[in-house]
Amino acid sequence: MTHTAYVEALDATAPLNPNALRAARGPSLVHLRSGPIGVFDSGLGGLSVWRHLHARMPNEDFIYVADNANVPYGDKSEAWIRERMVVMTEWFLAQGCKAIVWACNTATAAGATYIRERYPDVFFVGLEPAIKPAVQLTQNKKIAMLATQRTVDSAKYQALVQRTIQVDSGVQLQSIACVGWAQAIDTGRVSGQMWVNLLAQYLEPVRVFGADVVVLGCTHYPFIADDIRAYLGENVVLLDSGAPVARYTESILDIRDGRTMAKELGQTRNYATCVDEAVRARWQYFSDVAHIELSVLNL
Ligand code: DGL
Repeated sequence: MTHTAYVEALDATAPLNPNALRAARGPSLVHLRSGPIGVFDSGLGGLSVWRHLHARMPNEDFIYVADNANVPYGDKSEAWIRERMVVMTEWFLAQGCKAIVWACNTATAAGATYIRERYPDVFFVGLEPAIKPAVQLTQNKKIAMLATQRTVDSAKYQALVQRTIQVDSGVQLQSIACVGWAQAIDTGRVSGQMWVNLLAQYLEPVRVFGADVVVLGCTHYPFIADDIRAYLGENVVLLDSGAPVARYTESILDIRDGRTMAKELGQTRNYATCVDEAVRARWQYFSDVAHIELSVLNL
C-alpha cells in the first residue's frame, strides 16, 4: 500500500465554475480568519484530502478528527451518521473552526444536507464522487465508481448521477459498493490472501466491464491506488476528489475573507476516537509527516 502514485487527474488550476462560487457565498468569515479548518472522516482515509488542503494552504491551521472507533461508516444508518455529524460540528465550532470539511463521501451523502440546514451560517465542505470529471475524461464511455454501500445507496449520489449523466450520452456507469475495503485500509489489513481476495471481489467486475475511468468515491481508496492500478492496468485513470476540494475550500475562504494572515507555516492538531501505537504509525505513513502528535478524543 502506498500513496506515492496518488492520481490527480483533475486540473487543479482551472478556474472554478462561477455558479458554484456564487452559490457558496455566505456571511464574511473575517472574524474567524485566524481559526483552524476542521477536517473530519470516519477514520484515516480523510488524510488523503487533508494532504491536498495542507499543501494548498500551508499557512492555515488544521484540526483533523478520525472517528476510527466507529469505522466503517459505510454500514451505519443515515440517522446515526447525522447525529455523529452534529456532535462533531459542535466540537469543531467550540474549537473556533472557520470551516468544516467532511473528508468522507459517506458522511456527506448521509448528512450534508441535514447539517447545512441545521447550521446555515457555518461553512461546510462536503465530498462527492468525481463523476463530472469522469464523464469528461472517459474515452470509451465506461466509468466505474467505487464507494461504500451507504454512498452508493444514497439519494444524494443517485441525484448526482442523474443530473450528470445524460440518458442520451451513451455513458455507462457501474457503481460498486466495496464492502470491507475502508475498514481494511483503516486497520492496516491490506496484505495477504484475504486482502487479495477482497480486492478481486470488487475489481474483477470493473475489469470485465472495461471502464477506462475509475472514480474513487471513498477517501480511503487513494491509499490503495497502486493495488487498484496493478489489478486494472496502468491505462485506467483513477480519480479522487482531494485536489478539487482543496481548491474549492481555498476559493471560498478567499471570497469570504476567511484566509489566515499568518506568514509562518500552520499547525495540524490530530485527534482520533481510538489511539494506539499501530494507529499512530499508520497516521504518520498516511499523512507523510515524520512525527505527529495524536490525541484521543472522547466524544
Ligand atoms: N472514508 C469514508 C468515505 O469517504 C468512509 C468509509 C467508511 O467509514 O465506511 O466514504
